[in-house]
Amino acid sequence: MTEQTAEQRIHELSLKINYHNALYYQENRSEISDYEFDMLLEELIRLEAQFPQFKKEDSPSQRVGGTITKDFPTVRHKYPMLSLGNTYSEEELLDFDKRIKKILESEGLNLEEIEYVCELKFDGVSISLTYQDGKLLRAVTRGDGIEGDDITPNAKTIRSLPLSIKGDQFPAEFEVRGEVFMPNKVFEELNRQRAEEGKELYANPRNTASGTLKLQDSAEVARRKLDMYLYFLLGENIPYKTHAESIKTIESWGFQVSPTYRLCRDIEAVIEYIKYWEKERKNLPLETDGVVIKVNSLNLQEVLGFTSKSPRWAIAYKYKAESTSTRLNGITFQVGRTGAVTPVAELEPVFLAGTTVKRASLHNANEIERLDLRLGDTVFVEKGGEIIPKVTGVDLTKRDPQSQTLVYIQNCPECNTALIRKEGEAVHFCPNIKACPPQVKGRIQHFIQRKALDIESLGEGIITQLYDHQLVKDPADLYDLKFDQLVNLERFAEKSAQNLVDGIAASKNVPFDRVLFGLGIRFVGGTVARKLSEAFKNIDALAKASLEELTQVEDIGEKIAESVLEFFADPDNQKLIQRLKTAGLQFEAIGKSYALQSNQLEGKTFVISGVFQQFGRDELKDKIEAHGGKVVSSISKKLDYLLAGDKMGPSKLEKAQKLHVSLISEAEFLGMIGEATTSEGE
Ligand code: IVH
Repeated sequence: MTEQTAEQRIHELSLKINYHNALYYQENRSEISDYEFDMLLEELIRLEAQFPQFKKEDSPSQRVGGTITKDFPTVRHKYPMLSLGNTYSEEELLDFDKRIKKILESEGLNLEEIEYVCELKFDGVSISLTYQDGKLLRAVTRGDGIEGDDITPNAKTIRSLPLSIKGDQFPAEFEVRGEVFMPNKVFEELNRQRAEEGKELYANPRNTASGTLKLQDSAEVARRKLDMYLYFLLGENIPYKTHAESIKTIESWGFQVSPTYRLCRDIEAVIEYIKYWEKERKNLPLETDGVVIKVNSLNLQEVLGFTSKSPRWAIAYKYKAESTSTRLNGITFQVGRTGAVTPVAELEPVFLAGTTVKRASLHNANEIERLDLRLGDTVFVEKGGEIIPKVTGVDLTKRDPQSQTLVYIQNCPECNTALIRKEGEAVHFCPNIKACPPQVKGRIQHFIQRKALDIESLGEGIITQLYDHQLVKDPADLYDLKFDQLVNLERFAEKSAQNLVDGIAASKNVPFDRVLFGLGIRFVGGTVARKLSEAFKNIDALAKASLEELTQVEDIGEKIAESVLEFFADPDNQKLIQRLKTAGLQFEAIGKSYALQSNQLEGKTFVISGVFQQFGRDELKDKIEAHGGKVVSSISKKLDYLLAGDKMGPSKLEKAQKLHVSLISEAEFLGMIGEATTSEGE
């Protein structure tokens, strides 16, 4: 690729990504799939790495992170970040309205009614964003309100955060404040994954969002899919008269504002708003814990001013923490796709925060022990910061003195196999991977999901049906299904049977990395599958890889490597892959040509580091591989060459010298493979 085409493509990709991003966040629509979006982003990142001279300061590639921050610099807020006074009742709210009128009266302003803006109180982490000349300068946490942490690289990964401002009508410098949060769905998925991996669960979306913003690795932050709502504009000479106007303005600049705010003509309308959202807020994609009420007129806000802690022109109405008590009727156990066992409290149905609660997750054996639960106990159940109801404790005054401590099950409730619990892990597992029904069905479910083989017409119910009819017990069986077998099943008609057959056939074109992900190797998620597919190119090479070769791949640690080894060592899995191959699935990475040009570099390993004159790192990698060599990520005694460019880190250089690894330049390398160095301009 020439410099000119690269520059053009980078520009094109940036526009496209920004377009789809804005569509998604501002209009709630998408014209392309998440996968296609990721592919655009990946291409951009690759090109920017090859042609760093064309990388723009506000490039959307920053969304995927990549920076490691050891300590976040402390920054003093230009305007302190205050908190709000709280109220819990209508009465207190009416007092607030009266208080305001009184202050204004004493200033000579006699007002019949005050106009308020109501917003929901988002349960997240407050953040302050500073923009200069329309570009994001920094993102700082609230901290103690006076000083916060500069977490800019992490904030940039939030896709709804504008890196530059839309249009050209904005002050040279301004600050926008709002709340960073983890959407409930993202939180649930994160915890589901953690449960599967036997890790301790996160308590609630708020704390998780807060912890995520402080992670040192911004790429990990990007994966956590945080989001934000903005609700406050600050700066010198802001030309607006009302709060409502200023939030509409920031919305037009490209900031995400929750559509739930309302202008209320008086305090009665505020109370209506509060009542309406008490229930309705449960349908929002994030946790909220109250309503923030702000005087709409910025003039009046100025007159009202601040106490030492909070503004007099705003207040937070907090919804009551929702908790109740009920009887623990029993504990049941659910077995997931990976065999992880989750205990569930079976409760005497009780009405709580808008729904009837019958069950609550107990997470694992430690939790039961911690709560010292006994059958028949009266337990406290809460639905507050957490989406799934939670058992928070036992009402000991009501405990039956005869009650017995619960003993955790020892055998799988689905297949009766003895459960195991690995050292240091909280979760029990059923080791009967091959025949335990939820594990078998779960594997098929995992295989057909959108991120994997994407067989749309195959829902959970159908999988169970096919499994119960003994038509499908592993993913390969899907490819043997015939129209005639399906059409006679309950719930199937000609059209649906044909759709399924077509869907299965279409999945044969799904690229290798997604097939690899679909196999459900423990710890091999979408990203890891992509890395493995890039590194090994095809399933046979991957199946043969040693622990050492696996751990050489970026982001692949020992835990993942061992799991991969274990998977491929199993004869049943080998058989499965063979059958899937015969069915015609993709087991080879496509996109690049890996035809060997020579075997000159056979058995030689390379680490590529720094920036090069003629070729990008990916191109050099391709060349090494095209001549039979291999690129690895870390420097060890066994490494043959360190291909060194400009700006290479000093620690790498030092390590290579210490271990006597040969250092070669780009020109030397090209000489090695018989490609004469081209001089500039040629
Ligand atoms: S306005 C001067 N609006 O609640 C205070 N705050 O207790 C301006 N919060 O630190 C804050 N949603 O983190 C405002 N719609 C909203 C909010 C909101 C959540 C948080 C914010 C603030 C805390 C105040």
